[in-house]
Amino acid sequence: MDHFLYKDGVLNAEDVLLTDIAATVGTPFYVYSTATLSRHFRVFDEALEGMDHLVCYAMKANSNIAVLKILAELGAGMDVVSGGEYTRAKAAGVPGNRIVFSGVGKTREEMNLALINGIRQFNVESEPELKILNEVAISLGSIAPITIRVNPDVDAKTHAKISTGKSEDKFGIPIAKAREVYAIAGSMQGIDVVGIDVHIGSQITDLEPFRLAYQKVAELTKVLRGDGHNIRRLDLGGGLGIPYEQTNQAPPLPVDYGKVVRDTVGHLGCEIEIEPGRLLAGNAGLLVSSVIYNKAGEGRNFMIVDAAMNDLIRPAMYDAHHDILPIIEPDIDADQQQFDVVGPVCESGDTFAKQRTLTPVADGEMIAFRSAGAYGAVMASEYNTRPMIPEVLVHGDQFAVIRKRPSFDEMIKRDILPEWL
Ligand code: LLP
Repeated sequence: MDHFLYKDGVLNAEDVLLTDIAATVGTPFYVYSTATLSRHFRVFDEALEGMDHLVCYAMKANSNIAVLKILAELGAGMDVVSGGEYTRAKAAGVPGNRIVFSGVGKTREEMNLALINGIRQFNVESEPELKILNEVAISLGSIAPITIRVNPDVDAKTHAKISTGKSEDKFGIPIAKAREVYAIAGSMQGIDVVGIDVHIGSQITDLEPFRLAYQKVAELTKVLRGDGHNIRRLDLGGGLGIPYEQTNQAPPLPVDYGKVVRDTVGHLGCEIEIEPGRLLAGNAGLLVSSVIYNKAGEGRNFMIVDAAMNDLIRPAMYDAHHDILPIIEPDIDADQQQFDVVGPVCESGDTFAKQRTLTPVADGEMIAFRSAGAYGAVMASEYNTRPMIPEVLVHGDQFAVIRKRPSFDEMIKRDILPEWL
């Protein structure tokens, strides 16, 4: 459930008319609902009730500091994958002991930053990383708490570009090699082994891959404990999918996912960490855009809008589906036609939807792309010197710009002419 509903014929975000936001900030813009974000967090958190757990929001999904603050105040920790994300989490007021550091290519600088300012754990992904982290920790006179990310060789049955748990993927160490690498870690002076980490992919809509992966983690926990490691924490990654389309086949509910966690690893007496990103933020955001032109092509209707692939790259990159709603509610018996909804960028890939059945939307009127709260604004670029679009946060009947649109001047001034030119 989200809080984007029609009221008196106009789409609202909570109690704010999207037409009012558009009149203030112009289109295109992202808008997020505080109530939806909070609700998603609570539902997920409650699904893990009874287990000692920490929900570490995978902030790569949406790292606006206002979003982080809402979740942090509800008790979320953060899963970060870069020094920049770590610094954002700290700026949002998240204490180091609630931040986990993931990622295949952590640099010495990033390790230093996190060790000096506080970190719950590093999720180490390779032997070379382990060696460097040990060196960095020793040089600081500190000890780095770690889990090792194991690759369970499980097919998450999701889009190839966001599947991470198969043996051919670049992530983690093969589970078969785990004992060997844990033994090395256990002997290192600058390393404290606290647990095991696994993450098998994103937008996973079937619970079985999770079950298989977590069973393997449970077996490994016993083996490693037998080897003398004090395994007390399990980071089970993120990846639970969200409904992008209103069909009968909704992805599993958080409560059913929670049951899989309880059934597979609940008996081990470990603290559980989960890293959901999309599930918390995805359906808490819309991308609102105006129709610039309706253009009749050869047997095709093109709806050319002012948002483009640089603002929301998911359709171009993963052939992702985002539902499209007109901002003004159409009559129930309004005619529908098929449209290709496209942006202004000079690439055929700048297409949001092909042959989508919609009620016509006149030039100058607005539409909203649903499910744009995760992997939307964070993956945007300034391709075609298109400014990054504003992000707006709604809370009840209030709204605030939480990232503003830069002016052309501000964008251009970031370039520096060398003195010889
Ligand atoms: N933990 C780790 C280690 C991850 O790599 C990810 C996502 C997550 C947690 C959060 O996964 P989530 O709960 O959001 O599924 N840009 C793509 C998604 C990339 C996901 C990358 N890793 C998209 O737009 O679909």
